[in-house]
Amino acid sequence: MCGIVGAVSARNIVPVLIQGLQRLEYRGYDSCGVAVYRSGGDAPGLYRARSTARVAELQAQVAADGLEAGTGIAHTRWATHGAPAVHNAHPHFSHGAGADASSRPARVAVVHNGIIENHDELRAELQARGYRFDSQTDTEVIAHLVDALYDGDLFRAVQAAVARLQGAYAIAVFHKDEPQRVVGARAGSPLVLGVGQARDGLPAEHFLASDAMALAGVTDQIVYLAEGDVVDLQLGRYWVCDRSGRPMGPEERPVRTVQAHSGAVELGPYRHYMQKEIFEQPRALADTLEGVEGVVPELFDGQGDQAAAAWRVFKDIDRVLILACGTSYYSGCVAKYWLEAMAGIPTQVEVASEYRYRRSVPHPKTLVVTISQSGETADTLAALRHAQSLGMRHTLTICNVATSAMVRECALAYITRAGVEIGVASTKAFTTQLAGLFLLTLALAQSQGRLSAEEEARHLKAMRHLPVALQSVLALEPQIIHWAEAFAQKDHALFLGRGLHYPIALEGALKLKEISYIHAEAYPAGELKHGPLALVTSAMPVVTVAPNDELLEKLKSNMQEVRARGGVLYVLADADTRIRSEEGLNVIRMPEHYGVLSPILHVVPLQLLAYHTALAKGTDVDKPRNLAKSVTVE
Ligand code: F6R
Repeated sequence: MCGIVGAVSARNIVPVLIQGLQRLEYRGYDSCGVAVYRSGGDAPGLYRARSTARVAELQAQVAADGLEAGTGIAHTRWATHGAPAVHNAHPHFSHGAGADASSRPARVAVVHNGIIENHDELRAELQARGYRFDSQTDTEVIAHLVDALYDGDLFRAVQAAVARLQGAYAIAVFHKDEPQRVVGARAGSPLVLGVGQARDGLPAEHFLASDAMALAGVTDQIVYLAEGDVVDLQLGRYWVCDRSGRPMGPEERPVRTVQAHSGAVELGPYRHYMQKEIFEQPRALADTLEGVEGVVPELFDGQGDQAAAAWRVFKDIDRVLILACGTSYYSGCVAKYWLEAMAGIPTQVEVASEYRYRRSVPHPKTLVVTISQSGETADTLAALRHAQSLGMRHTLTICNVATSAMVRECALAYITRAGVEIGVASTKAFTTQLAGLFLLTLALAQSQGRLSAEEEARHLKAMRHLPVALQSVLALEPQIIHWAEAFAQKDHALFLGRGLHYPIALEGALKLKEISYIHAEAYPAGELKHGPLALVTSAMPVVTVAPNDELLEKLKSNMQEVRARGGVLYVLADADTRIRSEEGLNVIRMPEHYGVLSPILHVVPLQLLAYHTALAKGTDVDKPRNLAKSVTVE
């Protein structure tokens, strides 16, 4: 999704801006741009280059233009307001008001992540004051608003402008009259300040970015800006003010040393990141479980600003509320089965974007669990803050990014060690989330006195076996490729599961639709005759997740219902089930039966099915249309 990089330096900063955008590329974008203050040449002032192609094309443009400068801002855009087109790409300029404005040099440049909800009203107001709009974006109102409020001090103008904005934003702004200054602000979208060094006798340089990762290799000294902060970057100094305009000292906005990954992840022998990430799962699980010697609450101790001790929190809760989106939501749905059956704790799972706007009944003894790969998903963060505002202070996150807002804002955390996930379709993040959630189930079961030492040892042994078990599931790939060839010819697919595996059916359907664009739906198999059976014909492949558990016989009856209507079944059966391939019934046998951990294994063939179907259809596997990796807007 959208990305921001900004810099004030005494050296040429254009390569840093471009490289920062390249590091953010994998998140998905449809246009990009850079604006700088060029001091040399005949006409000093603001210059920009924008492109609807890749960042590499933007890089070629700036090289051809010989763009060099010490101050600049850059952006990758994921279209929300206005089509992906050059005139909608950021940075946006304001040339001031009046009929002749466009013939005047640009005065203000802005990049923006988020959505300005009152942009229509602001646009009408600014148009009435003589400002002309060149784009359909909500962002352009910020450029004109800053221009209208500018009285010689950019910091003051930005403070006054953001006071008028409703919605979510992270912005970086500069003005032609203050060429060595960039001002940033955030509310609802992430923004960090990168503190640079003084070198070669030159004053220290400073940076802004929507993610510390964009600054990898430039600086590891990061200040995480808080909601409502406005930050001023100049050569050799910076300062931050909070929402009320109060200056923030190093105690309140500490500089942290952050080892952000560089984003430069090699594909190695793989064709796509998604394929690589599916095959990395044995290692990702091993890394996630590394150092877990026993089930102890300390595994979940907090790491952020609100850090708390898990044992204290676990003693004080009597229910769980899980908040997440997409694939992460489905891992929460699996966890509900575990938490209720094994720990005896009532568990509710809610889609974050619904929960945040719902009038719900808060309960102070709730453990609010957010699940997120990125830790920056806007809806999940907002749902967390909403739960906190309702008085629920016991919060825990299962998250893959240790430096994310989610980890900083939750009292407790379990960091999955899936490694960087580049493919838009989440795979290894999901299976490692499940591992973290299973450990949480064990820890809560223990704190409820429902886990004996023998059970703990047995479950841990099964978890340690997961990487090996996953290897043998991955070896099923040739059989899945065979299925995928048939799926690539279809327009629709149905996925069925029961119990713990109903969320796995949901996840399988999501994977298939997002990367192969085949319409796929998932149902608990028992629901078939309540509606979806009407869809079943010989043209509808029906994927069934069929582990050998206590619901298998029920599931077999559901499969008969499909076969009797001419539906073609694709069944992922455990080794010891007696389901055999025959006309209209295709079976792939899982190597072992994995008991309660079975969802972690059964999802893998479904990931491979989606991947190979997409491959057969020739879609862009790692960057499916209209989707972004990190959904930082609502
Ligand atoms: C689907 C997918 C998304 C994410 C969702 C939440 O493959 O990746 O559905 O799971 O956008 O993202 P995170 O986990 O970063 O909060």
